[in-house]
Amino acid sequence: MKLTGPFAQILPLDGLPLKGALRDEQLRIIPNGGVLTEDGIILAVGDFNDLRKAHPSAQTEEITTPLVLLPGFVDCHTHICFGGNRAKDYSMRIAGKSYLEIAKAGGGIWDTVTQTRLATEQELTNTLIQRANRHLAEGVTTIEVKSGYGLSIHEEVKQLRAIKAASAQTKAKLISTCLAAHMVPKDFDGSQEEYLNIVLNELLPVIKKEELSSRVDIFIEQSAINPENALTYLSKAKALGFDITVHADQFTTGGSKVAVEVGAVSADHLEASGETEIKLLAGSNTVAVALPGASLGLGMNYPPARKLLNDGACLAIASDWNPGSAPMGDLLMQAAVMSAAEKLSAAEVFAGLTYRAATALKISNRGILAPGMLADMQAYPCADYREILYYQGKMKSDSVWAGWK
Ligand code: NIG
Ligand code: FE
Repeated sequence: MKLTGPFAQILPLDGLPLKGALRDEQLRIIPNGGVLTEDGIILAVGDFNDLRKAHPSAQTEEITTPLVLLPGFVDCHTHICFGGNRAKDYSMRIAGKSYLEIAKAGGGIWDTVTQTRLATEQELTNTLIQRANRHLAEGVTTIEVKSGYGLSIHEEVKQLRAIKAASAQTKAKLISTCLAAHMVPKDFDGSQEEYLNIVLNELLPVIKKEELSSRVDIFIEQSAINPENALTYLSKAKALGFDITVHADQFTTGGSKVAVEVGAVSADHLEASGETEIKLLAGSNTVAVALPGASLGLGMNYPPARKLLNDGACLAIASDWNPGSAPMGDLLMQAAVMSAAEKLSAAEVFAGLTYRAATALKISNRGILAPGMLADMQAYPCADYREILYYQGKMKSDSVWAGWK
């Protein structure tokens, strides 16, 4: 048994609703707090002195500077298994080139597919571990990682195997998702339906057999997969036992409707969502995931995060860390910057980065500091939690604890 503390403040993020707007006054703040853990699981959270008196035999990890303790962040949407980079795309984009011009110059998702196919499984594993460890050092203890840069049976399996291998070599918890439906590969000689059928009939069974993932994602967009084909594909993937998540409403609407219809765990992006989509998401159990890193990377508007919360949606915030639209990968900075523009409370931001993001992954044992939860925790060098967003992500976690996995 280990007692860690005293912390200037602990924000356990417990007792808060899953959906809708939150005020900072709803946050429970434990001053002079301690956390009792055993084997990476939380046994108790409370006043440090009370816990010490009640558990005199517990080994103490003494905190000697003012720190604010939060649950580890859950980044529920990333694409950090990839080869190469797209700095060339980015320089063209900031100089004003259009998506089409960039694609014509050999850029876009297909460029990363080419570079990822050139990398060995071992190389993908190594770079993924580095990125996961950088995230972990910044307080992100659970990281979802998508495939989607392989786009053939063999190459998608290679990516998912790399994610599985990396998962065993980092203390961060990696959750993999199959995004073979990112786009129809340029070297595929057939229709969208034919490609999706191959994924369904030939790829998903291998993924099941090798236990490479239990989640399926799709990019619903005019340039990728259309809503009709997406609905058919996702319904069949769901029938095979996969949880569904969707890249929805990034440039045009259509994706979130499919996501709600198929009972997806989350609908991510939502930059183009309007009143209809907001109402639909708010009335569903599908988590709305904002990806401010993509808005920053593409120079686009943020998703309507404030409106989604006001209407009662469950809003999570994720980085979308990828080589194309969101190369920065700094989750806290992105959430902090979006919160100023979208008018989100600290409670809404922290909820979106923790237990609401865990819900987007259908995981219930993290994101809240409470008995029975994983001891995934991070502490910031300040005595008042409000300083964390005030520095807009520039103040990083001082210590990170990654519990049992
Ligand atoms: O979430 N929108 C589609 N997929 C990624 C971008 C991937 C890429 O450009 O490499 C996204 O933004
Ligand atoms: Fe994405």
